[in-house]
Amino acid sequence: MDILTIRGGKSLRGEVLVEGAKNAALPEMVAALLTTEPVTLENVPNVRDISTMAALLRSFGVRVEHDAEGRRLSLRAEDLHTRRASYNLVRTMRASILTLGALLAREGRAEVSLPGGCAIGTRPINLHLEGLKKLGASVAVEHGYVHATAKRLRGAEIFFDTKTVTGTENLMMAASLAEGTTVLQNAACEPEVSDLAEMLGAMGAHIEGAGTDVLTIHGGTPLRGVEHRVVGDRIVAGTFLAAAALTRGAVRTAGVRPAHLRAFLDKLHDAGVRLEEADDAVAVRPSDDTLRARDMVTQPYPGIATDLQAQYMALMTQAHGTAVIEETIFENRFMHVSELLRMGADIRLDGSTAVVRGPTPLTGAHVMATDLRASASLVLAGLAADDETVVHRVYHLDRGYERIEEKLRALGADVERREE
Ligand code: EPZ
Repeated sequence: MDILTIRGGKSLRGEVLVEGAKNAALPEMVAALLTTEPVTLENVPNVRDISTMAALLRSFGVRVEHDAEGRRLSLRAEDLHTRRASYNLVRTMRASILTLGALLAREGRAEVSLPGGCAIGTRPINLHLEGLKKLGASVAVEHGYVHATAKRLRGAEIFFDTKTVTGTENLMMAASLAEGTTVLQNAACEPEVSDLAEMLGAMGAHIEGAGTDVLTIHGGTPLRGVEHRVVGDRIVAGTFLAAAALTRGAVRTAGVRPAHLRAFLDKLHDAGVRLEEADDAVAVRPSDDTLRARDMVTQPYPGIATDLQAQYMALMTQAHGTAVIEETIFENRFMHVSELLRMGADIRLDGSTAVVRGPTPLTGAHVMATDLRASASLVLAGLAADDETVVHRVYHLDRGYERIEEKLRALGADVERREE
């Protein structure tokens, strides 16, 4: 397994081109199941979750080809030879559950292994299954698999008790092939959901309300092939902006729309970070202002993304004062705290709330990554520590960040990847 060795204390400076959003590309790859025509995705991030989804789609019989540098994906789902998503693939990536709705809508049946929980929570899929039943599917859960069948899906009114990103995406894809109109109430409105809606629209689906929490899908017409460019990854951008603020540097993240990070950018500004915006870029500018502790709560979009909570916490260890951080989306998303404490941070946990006192000098240590965004938080802390930090189990990071050590080195960080 790889490790990252970081010698901190250097200010990051320069520009980083942010890759396409993993959490948009994943459902958009699955959307290729909704047509037999060729689908091409541009600006696909070269990260492990994408390779896992490609392997899963290939296991159904979908042709999936990467171009040389892996940013352009060509997919074609002409004849499927199975409708079963096997446990050995699904257990490595929960987002595999996204294939359930599309497989069912296209083939009339689907068998998808239950994704199981992960480090950050139990991650139930009850809302996905209840929604598919409302569209007329019979759904049974046996031997760790979801078995769904439906002669013909029919449009329905569906209300999500909790906003669910992949639940909304699963139902949007199923509804786009269902007979009649489906209304999704209390739908997720993350930019990745809107990007999928835009792609489905270009395939011929008739979807109203993208970007709002009421999505109306008029299904029933066959969908055609499409060329779609994946939206930039706002979480990767937010991670680099936090790294720049943490190291008192100046970094411009290109390929991301500021509106997709509005709540996070407002919070950084409020904490004393100087920012500059363009249509598809955000920059942290040099500043002598002290970093001020500011409370933060994670919320569904347009609130601050839970996927930026760990990175924000690393930043607050260097801010003056006390910051109260509340995690409202997942029940166990503080796995990074124990490792930050070992580096000298002052953080007290109380249920879903973390109280961070700063600034505290961070010292380098051997730390263990546990989940994708917690790993990013440990890398940020390593950049701020004044000596050497070694991050273990870097494979968590590789799921959602494309060659992060190369991008950080290009910004002046002293970081290298080695075999453990
Ligand atoms: C998506 O996960 C993202 N993954 C996550 O990013 C992200 O953290 C999360 O949305 C929240 O924004 C992808 O898009 C592939 P949810 P998802 O369903 O869809 C509860 C990363 O770091 N819930 O929006 O699985 C659930 O337990 C990953 O890239 C139910 O109760 O999250 C949670 O408390 C991590 N029943 C809340 O809803 C359900 O049927 C939000 O979960 C579904 C969800």
